[in-house]
Order: sequence, then structure tokens, then C-alpha cells
Amino acid sequence: MVMISQGRTIVAIDVGTTKVFTVVGQVGAAGDVRVLAHSTVPNDGLRKGNVEDVAATSQAIRESVADVERQTGQRIKSAYIGVTGAHVTFENAHQTFEGIGSSGVVTAEDLRRMSQRIAAASASSAAEPGRKVIHAIPMEYAVDGETGIRNPVGMHSRHLEVEAHLVTGGSYYIEKLVKAVEGAALRVDGLVLEPLASALSVLTPEEREHGAVIVDIGGGTTDIVGFQHGHICYTGVIPVAGSQFTNDLVQAYHTTREAAEEIKVKYASADPVSVDMKDVVVLPVPEKDVEQRIQRREVCQLVKERAQELVYMIKSKVNETQMEDSAIVLTGGGAKLPGLQHMVQRTFRGHVRTGAPNGHSHVPPELQNPAYATGVGIMLWAAAEAPAAAASRKSFGLESGLTGLIAMWSKQMKRWAPWAVLAPKHQ
Ligand SMILES: Nc1ncnc2c1ncn2[C@@H]1O[C@H](COP(=O)(O)OP(=O)(O)OP(=O)(O)O)[C@@H](O)[C@H]1O
Ligand SMILES: [Mg+2]
Repeated sequence: MVMISQGRTIVAIDVGTTKVFTVVGQVGAAGDVRVLAHSTVPNDGLRKGNVEDVAATSQAIRESVADVERQTGQRIKSAYIGVTGAHVTFENAHQTFEGIGSSGVVTAEDLRRMSQRIAAASASSAAEPGRKVIHAIPMEYAVDGETGIRNPVGMHSRHLEVEAHLVTGGSYYIEKLVKAVEGAALRVDGLVLEPLASALSVLTPEEREHGAVIVDIGGGTTDIVGFQHGHICYTGVIPVAGSQFTNDLVQAYHTTREAAEEIKVKYASADPVSVDMKDVVVLPVPEKDVEQRIQRREVCQLVKERAQELVYMIKSKVNETQMEDSAIVLTGGGAKLPGLQHMVQRTFRGHVRTGAPNGHSHVPPELQNPAYATGVGIMLWAAAEAPAAAASRKSFGLESGLTGLIAMWSKQMKRWAPWAVLAPKHQ
């Protein structure tokens, strides 16, 4: 059993189309996060990133949480939850604030208040009926007309403008996700955009700074986030990913999902010519109760065609970011398909790599896998975001005794760009 000692504990849950992944982390004095426990449970309650079967999803969450409760010996009451799906869209919005810096210079407190005003304003403007704001993330500021400022704290200002990245989602889908979490007797601490989480756990600080696009190929969706100058500037979701590859095999060979999935993960490649002509795979045909022998190369050819379609869709989304020459970092379980990275590399001019959450000292080796990029990232996001939220609650007289958290928030502020710590909770 893992003992939880000093330090804030964070629970992050990636409610994915193929699995529920729960990870428990503890924030250290330096703002680092140590993984205490984790659990992965198969999930069949989602379609293309959206909760369809609330009861099945709640059950998978319950099992996964019970597992980490056993490992830590602690009762879990709430968690940070990942959100994605084709209903997620973004808008880069411009807002102006007068009277900021009334104490002479812009303070961290001013930014906190401003971030709340951005969230409130976006909740009424961006969130037309049926939509909710997931994130309102400041990207950069203009102070008294001087543009391109990353962190205006300490600058003299009467007139502050902010460019913010607003991510919104369909209320119907968000409410279903929240219902599934609450059905597992948990409160939602905050919602985190899944590819933003993946970017936090996989991109290097240099990639975030110089520009990179993260492409998270999951089971149900391929999620895309663009980063430039240290902040998120683009969000996109394609409702096609690994499950579609499996479905193609089911349809083509009239076999079971389980068999198609196994063959895909063990033997498929997006590069058929790399596979020996003599290799054969065996697939059951359930209603006929027979087995069929298929050339492995033929399976790979089918997978290659689907992969090529997906890469074209990725290319078209990445073109929207106007970052098509930037580095591309593939992650998510679907990025493990052999040959895919090369296929993507042939389509883009920038460097393409496959990334996993392996640049953090306290992430155990078994989680340094593309499939855990989102879950680990939700944990990292929560470690940076929650103290800011707590500090701003205090500033509005809602909480007291949070000096330690505010100190930690100040430390985080130095480590993370303002977009991370100022991101308000969902509305
Ligand atoms: N070696 C492999 N080759 C090809 N595909 C793989 C491999 N390993 C895993 N996958 C695929 O990765 C997908 C699961 O990825 P991941 O765990 O990131 O999805 P998820 O988070 O559950 O789904 P989503 O993010 O879309 O809601 C599955 O479709 C699985 O078949
Ligand atoms: Mg995922």
C-alpha cells in the first residue's frame, strides 16, 4: 500500500473511448507531481469521445477509482476530468480592461480578477444556448498599446488588452460526462480539454515556445492542439481514430471486434511493404464458427488506406492552425501504429515525432506510453491550476487560510506560462 504523506493530492480521470484511466498524484514542495497510484479499466460507454451510455461509463469510473483507493488506502471524493469530442470548438477573442493596475503596476491579483472577468464575459458571449465554456486561457497581453506581452505583472498600465483562447463544448455532452462521474459518487473538481492535457505532458518547453502541434490519436477521436510562444492557440477535434481502424477490419473480414482489435495491435502497420509476404494472420468468423487465414500484408494495406485518410484529415486541420511547418508530435494509443509516424512525416515539412509523458521525473515507466499522455497531463494541469483557483477564491472572500497554496501558486507561476495557472474552472 502507498502511504499518502504531506502535500496536496490530485486525482485525474481520463474518460476515454476505450478506457478509463485514473491517476493519483501528490504535489511536492517544488510543484513537482509524484504518481502515487494509477488504474486502467476498459470502457465501452463512449462513442467518438462522447458519453453515450452513462451507466456503463459510471461503472468503469467506479472500478478504476476503487482500484486506486485500494492502492492508496484513501477514499476519493472528487477528480479532475478530461473532456473532448467533435462538439468542442474554440475562438480566439480580444478583450479590453480599463482601470487595471490601479496600484501603479499590474499585479498577479489584477490578472486573477481579469481572468474571472474573461470567463464571465465568455460565458455570456461564447456560450450561446447549449454551449459551455471549458477554458478561457489568456494568450498574450497589450499594455497601453504595446503588444505581444506574455506576462504583464509589474508593468505600469491604465489600459490592458488580452487575447484569450476560448474553448467551448456542447452542454448536452458535458452534462452527460459530469453525470457519469457523479454516478460514480465523485464530484468534478474541474474539466480539462484532453489534448491540452496531452500537450502539457508530452511537449517539451522548447516545442511549446517555438511552435508545435500535438495530435492525440485515441480510440474515438483525434484531438489537435497548436502551441506557439508558450501558449495554446488552436483546438480541433476529428471524430476518427483507432476504433475506426478496428471497425474496418471487422467489416472487411466479418470477424469479432476483439479479434480485429488484437490483430490490429499485434500485426498491423501503415507500411505494408515492410511486412513479409509470407506472414499470415488468423481471424475467426463467428456465425460460421470457422477461421480464416489472411495475408498480413492485406490487413496492413487496409489499415494503410484508413491511416492515409486520417492523415489527410489531420493535414487539413493543421492547415487551419497556419502552423503546418511546425513540429508535429503524435501521441495517444493510435500513434503506436507502426509506419504512421513516417506517413505523417511524408505529409508535413516540420519534424514529426511520437511522444509520451516521459519528460517528468516522477512519472513511472509504465505510464511513459502515448496512451497515458492525457491522464498524466490532466494531473499536471490540475497541479498548476488548482492553487490559482484556490487563491482567487480567497481573494473573493470565499476561503481563508490558503497562504501555503498561494505560495505554491507563485512558484507555479514561474514554472508555467500564465495561460496554465490563470485558466479558470469551467462554468
Ligand atoms: N500498437 C498499436 N497499433 C495500433 N493501434 C494501437 C496500438 N496500441 C493501441 N492502439 C489503439 O489506440 C487506441 C486507444 O488509444 P487511447 O488509449 O489513447 O484512446 P482513448 O483515450 O481511450 O480514446 P479517446 O481519446 O479517443 O476518447 C485504440 O484504438 C487501440 O487500438
Ligand atoms: Mg484519449
